[in-house]
Amino acid sequence: MKPGNKLLRWYEKNGRKLPWRRTRDPYRILVSEIMLQQTQVERVKTYYRDWLKRFPDWKALASASNADVLDAWAGLGYNRRALALRDIAWQVVEGGEPKTREGWLALKGIGPYTSAAIMAFAFKEAVLPIDTNIRRFGGRFFLGKLYPQLSDDEKIEKKSQEFLTESKTPYDVPQAIFDLSTMHCVKVPDCSVCPMRKECKAAEKFLSGKVKTPKQMVKKSNETKHRNNKYPDRIYRGRVLTLVRERGCETILRVGKEVKQDYDDELDREWLEALVDRLVKDEMVARTKKTVKRI
Ligand code: ADE
Repeated sequence: MKPGNKLLRWYEKNGRKLPWRRTRDPYRILVSEIMLQQTQVERVKTYYRDWLKRFPDWKALASASNADVLDAWAGLGYNRRALALRDIAWQVVEGGEPKTREGWLALKGIGPYTSAAIMAFAFKEAVLPIDTNIRRFGGRFFLGKLYPQLSDDEKIEKKSQEFLTESKTPYDVPQAIFDLSTMHCVKVPDCSVCPMRKECKAAEKFLSGKVKTPKQMVKKSNETKHRNNKYPDRIYRGRVLTLVRERGCETILRVGKEVKQDYDDELDREWLEALVDRLVKDEMVARTKKTVKRI
């Protein structure tokens, strides 16, 4: 049996039944994919259903205000994704729904991963959207790399072509890989129970028991961190937004004290104002000289 079909057979029996796997509507696929970036599947399930009730199609979303979309997104994190999604809906309402990968890529807010996901899941094309899960499986299976990096994506894409086109339903292959890489092809895999071990270029190395596990699977980008901050800036931006959404209006000083444990107005004010200004630029909050406000 062709390896792609073997994977699909495993997927039929063991795959997760997820709500976005029952649709070919590009709008719904896009909503699910944007939500799934950086958020766990279980959390996304309820947000996905609620979002579609509130914004059932491109038009409904395109006419939503920043406050509306941020409200529906509250709790998912990485809030800029919500506004980006709404801005994509604007573009689709204006210019029509693209039908090709290039067409989707031409929209602001859509990159190589998302355009590939839409083409596979909505348009049934044989293309691999490479996220961290698919990279881990693809790098191991096709290239024999134990801990694949971003720079391996091009090779994974090339090597996967035949695997995809030889499968009965190539558009299901990425979904199958999402599941295989969460259930079996994890950071330290037990390849002895993986259905793809015979064809996988990394399985033998793992099975030898001599593989050293790196602390970080994919090297982190250099995050600019202010002073002794515990977290990257996006965490503090999220906290500021939540606070302002709750309070309506708050002084910048008060915000600082609530979002950062050892906030010092002399040492941290400049950093905090830059953070708030970025939220203002992204149209998530408004500010005066001394206060931050809900929009
Ligand atoms: N991660 C990204 N896209 C996904 C999908 N469609 N199903 C499960 N996990 C995913």
